[in-house]
Amino acid sequence: MRDFFLWGHRGAAGVAPENTLTSFRAAEEAGADGIELDVHLSRDGVPVVIHDDTLERTTDGRGAVNRQTLAELRRLDAGRWFAPSFAGERLPTLEEVLAWSAERLRVNIEIKSAVAGAAVLALLAAYPRARVLVSSFDHSLLERLRPEAADLPLGFLAESRFWRRGLQRAAACGAESFHPRVDLVSPSMVDACRKQGLVLYPWTVDDPVVAGRLRRLGAAGVFTNDPLRIRRALS
Ligand code: G3P
Ligand code: CA
Repeated sequence: MRDFFLWGHRGAAGVAPENTLTSFRAAEEAGADGIELDVHLSRDGVPVVIHDDTLERTTDGRGAVNRQTLAELRRLDAGRWFAPSFAGERLPTLEEVLAWSAERLRVNIEIKSAVAGAAVLALLAAYPRARVLVSSFDHSLLERLRPEAADLPLGFLAESRFWRRGLQRAAACGAESFHPRVDLVSPSMVDACRKQGLVLYPWTVDDPVVAGRLRRLGAAGVFTNDPLRIRRALS
């Protein structure tokens, strides 16, 4: 790991179809230190990697993710929408990505649907703690997970200008990190994170000038759709 941690956002979503194995491999090749991904549950209770709760934007399927079984979801094309050359890409399961990433780079699992919490914990039962970070905008969910996984690194996401409450909940929960939307970052937030012992990872930063400013301000890293561009610019 370098001095400024780059999370490949949905893999390397700027150059490959988000939340696919091809996107995660692209993030690794670009020099990301970790990957970020989003999780929903299939109808039969399997954690699958997809951002939206519906299929239309990033697959050739229709309707809600949680209305289709894993077998049905696996038949969908998750790459053609991005570019024809990615046709045939499949929706990965979380288990599949964890198996791939274990020896490669850290994984930040953003739980999009609270009902996925238990299944995610089950998959992580034997996973090295230092290799994973579980995050969510749903702070109540993270607080419910904490007693079940005392040593699990947690990240609190924030997209409201009333971020101070979230930051306090993060600290009270023993979270590792605080993940604000980038426009919310200010010297007072950096200071509050430092005082509470929270690592600061803003999202989503594709402009190297902004990334450099955040590094100087005291952020520990950023989420980016283009890790290669940011890495090159900051090297
Ligand atoms: O985890 C950071 C970022 O991914 C949160 O927003 O909408 O891209 O999942 P979103
Ligand atoms: Ca996300």
